Amino acid sequence: MAGKILVTGGMGYIGSHTVVELQQNGYQAVILDNLSNSKPGMLDLITQITGIKPEFINLDMQERDGLEVFFREHHDLEGVIHFAAYKAVGESVENPLMYYRNNLGSLINMLACMTGSRAAKHLVFSSSCTVYGQPEVLPVSENAPVKPAMSPYGNTKQISEEIIEDTCQASKKFSAISLRYFNPIGAHESGLLGELPLGVPNNLVPFITQTAIGKRKQLTVFGNDYDTPDGTCIRDYIHVSDLARAHVVALERMLKKQNKESHEIFNLGTGRGYSVLEAVNAFEKTTGVKLNWKFSDRRPGDVEKVWADTGKANKVLGWKAERGLEEMMATAWKWEVNLNEGLMK
Ligand code: WQD
Repeated sequence: MAGKILVTGGMGYIGSHTVVELQQNGYQAVILDNLSNSKPGMLDLITQITGIKPEFINLDMQERDGLEVFFREHHDLEGVIHFAAYKAVGESVENPLMYYRNNLGSLINMLACMTGSRAAKHLVFSSSCTVYGQPEVLPVSENAPVKPAMSPYGNTKQISEEIIEDTCQASKKFSAISLRYFNPIGAHESGLLGELPLGVPNNLVPFITQTAIGKRKQLTVFGNDYDTPDGTCIRDYIHVSDLARAHVVALERMLKKQNKESHEIFNLGTGRGYSVLEAVNAFEKTTGVKLNWKFSDRRPGDVEKVWADTGKANKVLGWKAERGLEEMMATAWKWEVNLNEGLMK
C-alpha cells in the first residue's frame, strides 16, 4: 500500500473518481463527506469498480472538533485531496454566506488540522478556472491576472488559493498544489460512477443527458448572441477521469518532493474549446439520441469563452488530458442510462 490519503468530498463527482484512481495506484483512500451533494450508495459503486471499500466517515468539515478528532485518529495520513465545497455558481449568488461559511470555513479547519499534525503536510486543492473570469487572452495561462470573481463561488476559490499561499509561506514543511479545473464532464468508463446532481442540474452535460433520457422536457441553451462562431458560449470540457488522474500526479509530485515551490498552481483542461451547440451536436452524433432544445436569453454570470493553456501541466506536471469530447459524451450517457435502470436506488 503506497500510503493513506484523505479525500474530503470523496463521495462527490470528481472526488469519487479520484478515490478510484488513488486505489488503483495502490493508495489507501479515506473519505470525509457530509453527503450534502451525494448519496451513500456511491461507496458501493467505488467498491464495485476497485474491489476495495474505502473507509468513509460522515463528517461536516465546518465542525472543527470532529475534524481534530479525525486527525488524531489518522496521524499516519500522507496527504490530503480537498474537494469538499459547494460549487453551484447560481446558488452562490442567491446564498453567498452559505458559500463563504462552508467553502472557506472548511478549508481553514482543514489547514489548521494539517499544519497542527505530524503527518499530512501535502495538500491538493480543487480550484477552478472561474478565478480567471473572462480572460483578456485565450488560451488562458496560470499567470493570467486573477480578475474580480463573477460569483461568490468563484470568489471562494480565489480567496482559498490566497489562504493556501499564505499557509504555505508560514509553515515550512507544508506544501500545496492548486488545480484549476475547466469544465469537468463525462463518467467512469465502467458506467458505475458519474455525476449525481441532486435536483435540477445547473450544468450543461447532466442537463443534456437528463433531457435525452426523458427526465427533463427540453434543454435550454442560454444565449446565442455571444461573440463566438455560432453565438453560444465556449468552454474547455475535460473528462472527469483525466481530471482524477491529474490529482494523483499532483499528489505524487509533492510526496516525491519534486515540487519547485511550496504552492504550485496548474490549469487542468484540454486546451480545446467547444461551444454549447458543438457539445449538443457531439452528444447527438455519439449517442444517436436527438435532443429537444431551444434558445433563451443569456444566463447571468456566464463567461463568454474560456479554454486552457495546458502547457504548464503538460511540461511541469507531466500530465495531459487524453479523452476527447465523444468519449466524454458517450460515458456521460452510459451513466445516465444506468441510473435510469436503477443503478442508484
Ligand atoms: C456551461 C455552458 C452555460 C446549462 C462550471 C461549474 C463551475 C466550474 C466551471 C469547477 C455555459 C451553458 C448550461 C444549461 C446551457 N467548475 N448551459 N444550458 O457555468 O462553465 O461552470 O464549470 O469549478 O463550478 O459550474 O458550466 O455546465 O453550467 O455551463 O446553455 O442548461 O453551458 O450557459 O455557457 P460553467 P455549465
